[in-house]
Amino acid sequence: MNQPSPLTLIWEPPMIQPLHLGAINKFGHRRSDSSRSEIDGLPIDDLVNLYGSPLFITSEQRLRHNVRAIRQAFERHHPSVIHGWSYKTNTLSAVCRILHQEGSWAEVVSKPEYEKARLLGVPGNRILFNGPYKPRPILERAIAEGAHIHCDHLDELSLIEAIAKEQNRVVPVALRLNFNTGYTEPWSRFGFNLENGQAHEAALRIRCSPHLTLNGLHSHLGTFILDPRAYGEQIRLMTDFMQEMEKDGNTRITYLDIGGGFPSRNALQGVYAPPEQAVPEIEEFAQTVGKALKKGLSDRPGPPPVLIIESGRAVIDDAQSLVATVVGTKRLVDGKRGVILDGGINLMLTALWYHHPVRLVQPNGGIPEETVLYGPLCMNIDCMRQLVSLPPLKVGDRLVFSPVGAYNNTQWLQFIELRPAIILLSPNGTHEIIRQGETLSTLCEPERIPARLTPNPGSWLPLPQPMED
Ligand SMILES: Cc1ncc(COP(=O)(O)O)c(C=O)c1O
Repeated sequence: MNQPSPLTLIWEPPMIQPLHLGAINKFGHRRSDSSRSEIDGLPIDDLVNLYGSPLFITSEQRLRHNVRAIRQAFERHHPSVIHGWSYKTNTLSAVCRILHQEGSWAEVVSKPEYEKARLLGVPGNRILFNGPYKPRPILERAIAEGAHIHCDHLDELSLIEAIAKEQNRVVPVALRLNFNTGYTEPWSRFGFNLENGQAHEAALRIRCSPHLTLNGLHSHLGTFILDPRAYGEQIRLMTDFMQEMEKDGNTRITYLDIGGGFPSRNALQGVYAPPEQAVPEIEEFAQTVGKALKKGLSDRPGPPPVLIIESGRAVIDDAQSLVATVVGTKRLVDGKRGVILDGGINLMLTALWYHHPVRLVQPNGGIPEETVLYGPLCMNIDCMRQLVSLPPLKVGDRLVFSPVGAYNNTQWLQFIELRPAIILLSPNGTHEIIRQGETLSTLCEPERIPARLTPNPGSWLPLPQPMED
């Protein structure tokens, strides 16, 4: 029998740990299996052996399923629904392309996002242009290409009007509204406030301009909204405002865009109940929205406005996983087990706000113990999970974090480490890279070194005495 080499046996002082094995949570559910060895039927180990660690794995099947399910849920309650894909949630070209194939429009919030959508073949009139900063040249282009401009503030409205005048056209604009539904923390920094009259003022400016018409209303309540009633109230406020605007007889609102914010099956920090308990089904949101629309539109003649949803995280989050490998373990001074991974918050910045579910790629049968998962960065806040119950881990073990698809491939950092490859699993079982892992030249290529900084080997000072060889 092979004896383990003495070097692989690491002595640790004995300690007493409460056993959590098979424990049930307060809802009577057993702890779910702490391992996951496959994604879409493909062994995670094989994928990591091929593409390296850390590795982002994207499931095309799940992505397509999610966007269809969400759109269909709303279509059951309203005759005309459009999904706008929020580029900021995940801007990978392959992800955007899949969603555009599924019929999603592009929801963009900046010049580069607008340009990327056009580059990916999205026609201007299938782009929803949000955001507080739309520089003049991109606004000119977006207006000329028939994009749907969602106006954020009065200065922007003046700019749109000036461009419309210059281009000698009447430009349809939508107003972004903000208000307090009473069910979420109100976001008042984007768009025009309803309660203090800003929204009415903006609408009046549009009505008085021969170059502008009001054709849509937009609002985005926030993100990871757990209470469907927030959307019911949102629709009530938006349809009331719409009816008020349409009283002039000239205004016709053709769409109501209710933004995104629907939660994914993730665990927001501070939410006590586990995701399967805390996160309502998308159907509940769709039902609430549909009911509120029926009520808000009951006495409005003509075809109902199109309902636009800009769901981001609920579409992509569980379609992506991050695999990381253990590079070291240690016993922390407070007795907890510390584990160092090769991927940290540089790749999963959302670890700052979510307790991302994490599982072993290969079950090891060990007794779970409270563990702190650190990333590889030489920086104190680089912590993937503050405390998670995991069996003992050793160098080379792999962990899979999921869901991680929302806001990580867009907010990740090139900080200290390079960003790894992202692969896509296709529904027919193939896999391919959709973003190359970064190399040193990814970092250095955009830099320029002034010629006067050319290294001069002769300029090094001699080594201090004791170091001399
Ligand atoms: C205007 C707008 N629409 C849609 C989204 C997507 O939100 P979520 O991912 O919460 O669905 C965002 C995200 O911040 C947004 O700002």
